[in-house]
Amino acid sequence: MSFASPNPSSTTTITISAPQATCAQTKDKNLPPNVFTLPQTAQLEALYTIIRDKETSRGDFLFYSDRIIRLLVEEGLNHLPVLPRVIETPTGSKYEGVGFEGKICGVSILRAGEAMEAGLREVCRSVRIGKILIQRDEETTQPKLFYSKFPSDIAKRYVLLLDPMLATGGSAIKAVEVLIEHGVPAERIIFINLIAAPEGLLNFGTRYPTTKVITGWIDQGLNEKAYIIPGLGDFGERRYCV
Ligand code: URA
Repeated sequence: MSFASPNPSSTTTITISAPQATCAQTKDKNLPPNVFTLPQTAQLEALYTIIRDKETSRGDFLFYSDRIIRLLVEEGLNHLPVLPRVIETPTGSKYEGVGFEGKICGVSILRAGEAMEAGLREVCRSVRIGKILIQRDEETTQPKLFYSKFPSDIAKRYVLLLDPMLATGGSAIKAVEVLIEHGVPAERIIFINLIAAPEGLLNFGTRYPTTKVITGWIDQGLNEKAYIIPGLGDFGERRYCV
């Protein structure tokens, strides 16, 4: 990236390198390379400690989970491709910057994923949002699509897929399958979640190695009821108190 001098008659330009994604690709050899975590700072751990605590009030759960969601959405946007874009500033100078290559949309996996929509809207004004409802089929025990609604041009967009908890990965895998059926290439989907279990990351990453997964924290694993351990319990219950 480079700046033209504020004096329009000057040809001096200042070049800086484009910002890099701040999160880290996981170094864990047992996990797929498409997994990225937020920087594991003490601040982030403090936020997670609050939302994991069963004594935390609903108000605090909302506030602090929203803070993490905002960080995750910002990080997701860091992974979108940009193209060179030259603009002129009010000083009459040319600025050689960048602009996003394509349009985006969010797709929330109902119902918990809806909690992440506001965080996306805060950073992407008037972003289009689709929804998808996947539940376990009682007969086959497999994840089944019950409802979906997407922007009509979704095939041309980058998709930020939103679901706060990645447990077994079944719903997310089904959601990506549905998005691909609607014409979205797997590499144009970025899956964002707050907490992931290694089992889910492995399942998802093996099935869709070109879809990036951005997670805030990778936990120990799943219990016999497929809850993430240590986790935070049922995200929907914590958030909506039902
Ligand atoms: N969904 C949740 O809300 N919590 C879990 O631990 C796993 C899936």
